[in-house]
Amino acid sequence: MIVKTAPSRSHNHVFIPYPEHHYRWSRRSGRHPYRRQLLKQGKHKVSALTRPDSTSTFPEGLHAVFTADYNKQHELVAAMKGQDVLIITMNAMQPVETSLKLIGAAAATGVRYIVPNELVSKREQVQLGKDLMLAEGQIKVCEHIMSKHLKQIGVGCDFWYEHSLAGTETRFGFDFAKRTVTFYDEGDTKITTSTWTQTGRALAHVLALPLTSEAGLSIAQLENSQVLITSHYVSQRKMLDSILRVTGYQESQWTISHDGAKARSGRGMSMMQQGNFHGFEIAMYSRAFFPDDSINHEAKVMNAALDLPKEDLDASTRTAISMAGQS
Ligand SMILES: NC(=O)c1ccc[n+]([C@@H]2O[C@H](COP(=O)([O-])OP(=O)(O)OC[C@H]3O[C@@H](n4cnc5c(N)ncnc54)[C@H](OP(=O)(O)O)[C@@H]3O)[C@@H](O)[C@H]2O)c1
Repeated sequence: MIVKTAPSRSHNHVFIPYPEHHYRWSRRSGRHPYRRQLLKQGKHKVSALTRPDSTSTFPEGLHAVFTADYNKQHELVAAMKGQDVLIITMNAMQPVETSLKLIGAAAATGVRYIVPNELVSKREQVQLGKDLMLAEGQIKVCEHIMSKHLKQIGVGCDFWYEHSLAGTETRFGFDFAKRTVTFYDEGDTKITTSTWTQTGRALAHVLALPLTSEAGLSIAQLENSQVLITSHYVSQRKMLDSILRVTGYQESQWTISHDGAKARSGRGMSMMQQGNFHGFEIAMYSRAFFPDDSINHEAKVMNAALDLPKEDLDASTRTAISMAGQS
């Protein structure tokens, strides 16, 4: 994604290699929160990058949509010329090398900042990042960005609350259609989660900061760091309580079962080793809920510095239920 706004700003183009985000599991489509919130904020010119054979569709309000074959560097370079920021939001399962191609083209065209595909904090909870099988690729991408003398700004949003709650039982354990939930252990382990809106808002606020400032927060202070944010630091038990409040169901109308997070994560890993890709999600989500090392960045989040609003858990739950096609 590329952003460009007022001529007085030097960091004003943003480029997102990312189209409409179709949530196949929810039968509804949404837009990636970065693009939606940047467009809503209206301070940048936002463009998208897509591949020639893509079936992606794009929302109103984009400055441009560029098409490039990722194997043809000159096409990527042509798309990125004049852009200031490259935001990578491509499919998370793509090999790191695909991101490296984008970064190589960005470096050749004077793009100043890269926002890489990031989920978890690779610095605060190093072992957890490794266990989630995401940190290694993230670190490789960051090293490549530095080697090209570009600056990177990461946004660590952790699991998206609505996406994970509305997803299948292999995410936060909930199946809305069957009204069942599998609690990891007792269901009382809290994890840091972010909503789509908060994730997008955080990046939009970061990119609207002055490049440098002696008076307050600036982009320069965030260079080569990861901006951690939060929406809800919450356990599955509290998620279920919220669902009951929002839907009016009684707990007796839901079936609760339990599975040890550690044992389940091990099973997920074994499934992956046997070539069953579903194991990835099982291993990843259950790892996040290990009682002695769950995802928790609450002490380091930058919500206040970025002036991010406090969100209502039940409102986020309502969105998840709607995404799951249950409202
Ligand atoms: N925090 C969370 O809980 C969470 C959860 C899910 C996703 N995410 C984030 O959301 C973003 C999208 O993730 P996703 O996995 O859901 O993506 P996705 O919607 O499956 O794919 C996004 C886009 O990536 C591009 N793409 C797909 N395959 C590609 C390839 N081989 N080479 C180059 N581009 C390719 C496509 O764009 P074109 O077809 O237009 O080229 C595609 O529409 C990522 O930033 C991910 O980290 C976060």
